[in-house]
Amino acid sequence: MDHRTQLALIERIQAHRTAGRGTDTAPTSMLLPTTAYTERERFDRERRLLVTTPTIVGLSGLLPEPNTHATVEIGDRSVIVTRDTGGDVHAMLNVCRHRGAEVAHGCGAAARLRCPYHGWTYELDGALAARRGDQHFDDRPAADLARVPVLERGGLIWVNADRDGSIPDQPLTGADAELAPFDLASYRHFGTRTFTRDLNWKLAVDTFCEAYHVAVLHRDTLAPMIHSDFALFDAAGLHGRLVAVRRSFTELDEQPVDQRSLFPHATILWFLMPNTVLIHQQDHVQLYQSRPGATPEQAHLTVSIYVPPDSPRSDQHWERNFDLLVEVTDTEDFATAAGIQRNYYAGAQTHVTFGRNEPALQHYHRSLLTLLEEPT
Ligand code: FES
Ligand SMILES: [Fe+2]
Repeated sequence: MDHRTQLALIERIQAHRTAGRGTDTAPTSMLLPTTAYTERERFDRERRLLVTTPTIVGLSGLLPEPNTHATVEIGDRSVIVTRDTGGDVHAMLNVCRHRGAEVAHGCGAAARLRCPYHGWTYELDGALAARRGDQHFDDRPAADLARVPVLERGGLIWVNADRDGSIPDQPLTGADAELAPFDLASYRHFGTRTFTRDLNWKLAVDTFCEAYHVAVLHRDTLAPMIHSDFALFDAAGLHGRLVAVRRSFTELDEQPVDQRSLFPHATILWFLMPNTVLIHQQDHVQLYQSRPGATPEQAHLTVSIYVPPDSPRSDQHWERNFDLLVEVTDTEDFATAAGIQRNYYAGAQTHVTFGRNEPALQHYHRSLLTLLEEPT
């Protein structure tokens, strides 16, 4: 994010402070039927959408050097992403062409992938390298792993898990320019944690799309550091960016205007369709992803931390940080979302309301309806 953009955002925050408890707003509030979170038919369309839409699978640091691979889950498909000897990135369905076993698990470094069932081996671009008893098989042309579209751009790796799908050249539609100065390509992947909770996958995204709840739900944890008010929202195509203001923002009042920097006085949060939330904290990046579970009432949640290469912090520091952020989001946000899900499931009310003060939430759900090709 360049300095001019930061100064413009600072000015907008100042205007909200001057107004009292201001925050960016949408023209009207919005109603969404609670069936969006419970209906099986809608859920099945979302599952299809997630495997046919370009999705971020991680920062470039997920594949830190040549001859590395990582398995990622996109919707309900397992995908292997690799960085080959020359540094190019590839993506293949994690399905052995012999009998369908998962070829890889987790992250690793190796020049080839070896299926754990009968030992077929694959090059990092998915080509079949060798198999025992090769003379017994007639299907060599169809024996390579199924390749799917992949794009590494601006330090982010995008995959479309659909073999016939595509990824646009500029998948961030405008956010690219803002993210470029962060040099995300240089960040190190510290770790990823995955867990399953009883809530619709969208509720896990919803909780990041407004700062309104911070003062109440996070009264003792985040509220001492982050304001519930003064939040900014800007759309970037179907994606969006939320700026949550830290309490240290008042320090800017002492600084000459041209020396002001929005960092470290704000947390910048991008929601990137269809299911990713990328949060730029002062000294690291958090990546949250939510996927549908077996039913509309279940979600698989993935949290990753990436740290800049020059970070002076120890791994113990990041481990503690990881514990803390998972604890807060799990015991506060996701526990609340599970209660919401039970209420929706019980049919206790027909609609949920997104206020004028929750413009990012409104935009997220309109974007999702656009992708699902439903009228908004
Ligand atoms: S299923 Fe992979 S080698 Fe047989
Ligand atoms: Fe929260």
